[in-house]
Amino acid sequence: MMTEVKLQINKIYNENCLETMGKMPDNFIDFVITSPPYDDLRNYNGFRFEFEKIASELYRILKKGGVMIWVVADATVDGSETGTSFKQALYFKEKVGFNLHDTMIYYKNNPMPQTGNRYHQHFEYMFALSKGSPKTFNPIKEPTKYTPPPPRKNRGKEGKLEYEKVMRTTHKKIGNVFFYSIGGGISTKDKIAYKHPAIFPEQLVYDQLYTWTNEGDLVYDPFIGSGTTAKVAHLMKRKWIGSEISEEYVKIAEQRIRDYIVDNLF
Ligand SMILES: C[S@@+](CC[C@H](N)C(=O)[O-])C[C@H]1O[C@@H](n2cnc3c(N)ncnc32)[C@H](O)[C@@H]1O
Repeated sequence: MMTEVKLQINKIYNENCLETMGKMPDNFIDFVITSPPYDDLRNYNGFRFEFEKIASELYRILKKGGVMIWVVADATVDGSETGTSFKQALYFKEKVGFNLHDTMIYYKNNPMPQTGNRYHQHFEYMFALSKGSPKTFNPIKEPTKYTPPPPRKNRGKEGKLEYEKVMRTTHKKIGNVFFYSIGGGISTKDKIAYKHPAIFPEQLVYDQLYTWTNEGDLVYDPFIGSGTTAKVAHLMKRKWIGSEISEEYVKIAEQRIRDYIVDNLF
């Protein structure tokens, strides 16, 4: 029996993500990328979130082989880091059933400087959690130092094989630490986005979407804030859905992405 889906695609739902996911059937979403409001680090207009319920729902709505990128760091409370990031990653793995596929790092080239007896906080975790083995992996590659002679042209199948062999020796997949410069004018050129206190660099969303999705896939961000995931997914020809509990942020996101989205979505 087909379940009727009561959701619009390419829309930000101004509600608790639990409500949005409640309208989704099982195995519906290809890819999730998000940054949750962890450790009450910022007061996002006073909203709180129920981690355990949300974790189970995220697993339910993700397709088999789907991947979720969960971007978190820890606050320091009473002189100690909270460890929330690890607790959440282990909860996803041990209680929910996710595969902790890769603990990746979002490295900030230019973090806020820190005073006191700690080094500058340069990174956040990007936990790549999957429902079974990831169904898509398009690794980002970089050139190797070795430069072999170019392949001979026009030799049909043999030439193609030779070309692929050269590509294998001249390019290798990059490491799981992704480097980004952040801040005004760098994370995004959209001035309005900075009315939100914690935006993703657009390049981070681009790199993760490139890696784990293909054109036409359906992407979900349960805490979409200023709409970075919507904008980048749309420009990359992925379908998307977002949830954002704060009306103020939804307005910012809608205003931000309106310019990029030509097919009259709002
Ligand atoms: C870290 S921010 C996300 C920022 C986003 N990645 C961007 O690029 O703008 C987390 C967002 O989650 C929202 N939020 C908090 N609890 C929520 C809930 N239960 N459902 C949906 N959104 C929620 C907050 O208002 C905040 O905008």
